[in-house]
Amino acid sequence: MTPRRGWWRAGAFGAALAAATMAGPSSAAERAEDLYKTYCWQCHGMKGDGNGINVRDMSVQPRDHTDARAMSARTDEELFTAIKKGGQAINKSVLMPPWDGVLSDEEIHSLVRYLRELCQCRHGG
Ligand code: HEC
Repeated sequence: MTPRRGWWRAGAFGAALAAATMAGPSSAAERAEDLYKTYCWQCHGMKGDGNGINVRDMSVQPRDHTDARAMSARTDEELFTAIKKGGQAINKSVLMPPWDGVLSDEEIHSLVRYLRELCQCRHGG
């Protein structure tokens, strides 16, 4: 999937989203951090280290997004799919929920970039 196609699909969410997206002065990176601290931290932790408040009740522990070794084993596409379709889509736990319908493709791409900042890594090293 190309980012461009993702953008057009995100466009289907309509003018409301576009307005919300353009309203804030914050950069894409800051928005991704906001998204992470809205939707992801309960499990993955405020610092992305897999230490959220839900963790003690979970049978499968959330990924530590600061673990460069584990995170560099994943392609950006896999991370995108995991976020969009849930853990099951990459043969991981259903405890990682799908965010399709909550987050636009553009937002998911920005989260993938944010995860790469957290791990200070890219696929393959
Ligand atoms: C309800 C708890 C929960 C929430 C909320 C959650 N996750 Fe997860 N996530 C998990 C668990 C558990 C795993 C590990 C699944 C496994 O190892 O089988 C996981 C795994 C992942 C993975 C796969 C990493 C890998 O290589 O295995 C990514 C990417 C991810 N989460 C991103 C996110 C993002 C981005 C958000 C916010 C939009 C989010 N998660 C919100 C529980 C959660």
